[in-house]
Amino acid sequence: MNSEILIPLPYTKSNAKMAVLIRNIKSLIQVDRKEKAFLAGDEMKDIPTIDNAWLLLDNERIHSYGSMEKFPETEQFDNLETVDASGCLVMPAFCDSHTHLVFPNTREVEYVDKINGLSYEEIAERGGGILNSAKAIQEASEDKLFEDAMQRLDLITGYGTGAVEIKSGYGLTTESELKMLRVIKRLKQNSPLTIKSNFLGAHSIPMEFRGQQEKYVDIVVNEMLPAVAEENLADFVDVFCDKGFFTVEDTERILEKAAEYGIRPKIHANELDYSGGIQVGVKYNALSVDHLEFTGEEEMKVLKGSGTMPTILPGAAFFLGMKYAPAKEMMAYGLPVAMASDFNPGSSPSGNMQLILSMASILYRMTPQEAINATTLNTAYALGVENELGSIDKGKIANIIITKPINGIEYLPYAYGDNKVWKVYIKGKPAKENQ
Ligand code: NIG
Ligand code: FE
Repeated sequence: MNSEILIPLPYTKSNAKMAVLIRNIKSLIQVDRKEKAFLAGDEMKDIPTIDNAWLLLDNERIHSYGSMEKFPETEQFDNLETVDASGCLVMPAFCDSHTHLVFPNTREVEYVDKINGLSYEEIAERGGGILNSAKAIQEASEDKLFEDAMQRLDLITGYGTGAVEIKSGYGLTTESELKMLRVIKRLKQNSPLTIKSNFLGAHSIPMEFRGQQEKYVDIVVNEMLPAVAEENLADFVDVFCDKGFFTVEDTERILEKAAEYGIRPKIHANELDYSGGIQVGVKYNALSVDHLEFTGEEEMKVLKGSGTMPTILPGAAFFLGMKYAPAKEMMAYGLPVAMASDFNPGSSPSGNMQLILSMASILYRMTPQEAINATTLNTAYALGVENELGSIDKGKIANIIITKPINGIEYLPYAYGDNKVWKVYIKGKPAKENQ
């Protein structure tokens, strides 16, 4: 692989200085959150907003904002671009804290098997699902994986995503897991988005280890993790701790080892059963536990006050036709709720966070305010970037969405399927514009 190869990409990183003044903003949403790392329970009901506002971006950062009644001095800024946002809302770009967007092939044929009645677990048992992708990744070149993933990043930027976590987990051999993680590293170097990498060696049990999965866990612990740590390729570690996949004991072994390297967990938990995944995640101080369809009183009790972000993945539950995680009960219990896309070829083939907003409201009965909190500041926390992203605050990274002219935030989840985003600024620079 030659990382010097120049590939024509939709956008490039640029260091040119510029400032952007966005004026006449109908409503500036999710402001003044600096003292909040995340929002829990009743706090999620509220979205601080300034109507008739301006917002000034200076290079990578949010410089200042306020009401149009007190307009800022801008003489000091050279290279100032001014945008008239009359009728438009401005909000922080979405943070998508759970994706698998590096993958070699789409899996729509299996999806038809699903329509015809096979379950996710049955498809996995016959070597489909994650193992199908793991086979394809052996043949995929790093360049092709990189180019495809860059296109997907471009696509989700157009829907308003500004930060994203990307997992490995379609490798399932040391060599292929490293291949995936190196691709993610290259994405970090080439994309303007904020990207976090997650090592998910324990995503599925390869066929040859069925019935003796502890031997596969041995490889994850003794071979993969040391190699990943050596190259400093993972911000986080993940395990699919669920029925038919990895047990609590397997998970503990992996998280113990990861802790030796100082790698914090984010866990796939309780998607298919009351797996104990939430409890083991909290025990090992996971930054998030994700999926959570099987969450009861016991799990909520463990999560309360823990620092582990309960993260629901509406796309996967919707696409697989599963039951929905109890979002409202969690908030009533005083818990925070984050929502991410789970963009992947098997259970959620879309990374459109606007669709997640709609699902939050339609399927989980969350208000637009709760849904926006769940997809901005709470997912920023679940990415470990809440000090930098997820709200409009002075000094934070300027990842900003300007919507098309719309009546108010209610329209965002309501008009499902439409792209309501007009312009996207990433690190203070124009990254995408939709018609
Ligand atoms: O988050 N639950 C496990 N892993 C993914 C699915 C990955 C796949 O099927 O390719 C998920 O849904
Ligand atoms: Fe996932």
